[in-house]
Amino acid sequence: MGLRIVSGSANPMLAHGVAAELDAAPGEGPLERFPDGELRPAVGDVRGDDVYVVQPTGPPVNDNLVELALLIDACRRAGAERITAVLPYLGYARQDRRTGTGQPIGARVSMEVLAAVGADRAVVLDPHNPAIEAMSPVPVDVLTALPDLAGTLRPLVPPGAVIVAPDLGAVQLAERCAALLDGTVAVVRKARRSGTEVVAADLVGEVAGRRTAVVDDMISTGGTVEAAVQLLRTRGADPEIVVAALHGVLAGDCIERLADLRLERLLLTDSVTPVDTTPVPSEVHRLAPLLAEAVGRMHRDEPLDGLLAVT
Ligand code: R5P
Repeated sequence: MGLRIVSGSANPMLAHGVAAELDAAPGEGPLERFPDGELRPAVGDVRGDDVYVVQPTGPPVNDNLVELALLIDACRRAGAERITAVLPYLGYARQDRRTGTGQPIGARVSMEVLAAVGADRAVVLDPHNPAIEAMSPVPVDVLTALPDLAGTLRPLVPPGAVIVAPDLGAVQLAERCAALLDGTVAVVRKARRSGTEVVAADLVGEVAGRRTAVVDDMISTGGTVEAAVQLLRTRGADPEIVVAALHGVLAGDCIERLADLRLERLLLTDSVTPVDTTPVPSEVHRLAPLLAEAVGRMHRDEPLDGLLAVT
């Protein structure tokens, strides 16, 4: 079985980086966009191949999810032997439960779609909820880039610094990060008022006069980080604050919001295509080596020890 990396249009730089690391042939064709909004992607000759379709489902989330589904269908129809969906970022992952009556569970629907069109398995990097595996009809390998992100943070965060979870959902992430960086942990109690407005209601932990790094799985509108950073300054933390997130979705006016915070540094990965220029001093950790290592091992039917998220 030959190895093929098929790139969707969401993050071709990352997909081609994975292909280059593995010296693998790219397998995608042109993507047609019709005036009514329909998409028609194409794959090349993938008959008998072990195909990895790389497509984060960040903004525009629905287009990117549909394009991924169409690519998987195209691979199946073209005779691929095995098809793996590689999602460096999984959109809809926050919809992992019903928070009110009459709602769907978007995370499960995403995985159902991939299974329905013929994916044999999926690889998801640091999803909002690692339990996505339990919601998916196809087997899922959940990878983590946290050790890599912590490595990028290390020069900026001295031992003893406070790693801040900007909400209760990020506590485990902050604890794992603090363990890697010899830090302590503080937690913000957050209340969400709307999709863009967040209130940091309280802080558990000692931050006065201390260096802090806010760590979250993703930054979308920037509301969560904004509230946390403002509260840290109110509580007397060292004003030079670092923010790190595994997924820089950066929706709407997020960049302007982050610029207003005068952060010392913003660290993200390239799971979602990074913005070209940003007024925020930032660093982007490349995921291609990690994803290529995972894909290479899966192609050789080797275990993914050391790459998987352990919860
Ligand atoms: C929420 O549970 C997530 O972990 C993030 O904190 C949140 O989704 C970030 O969104 P935003 O940047 O829009 O506040």
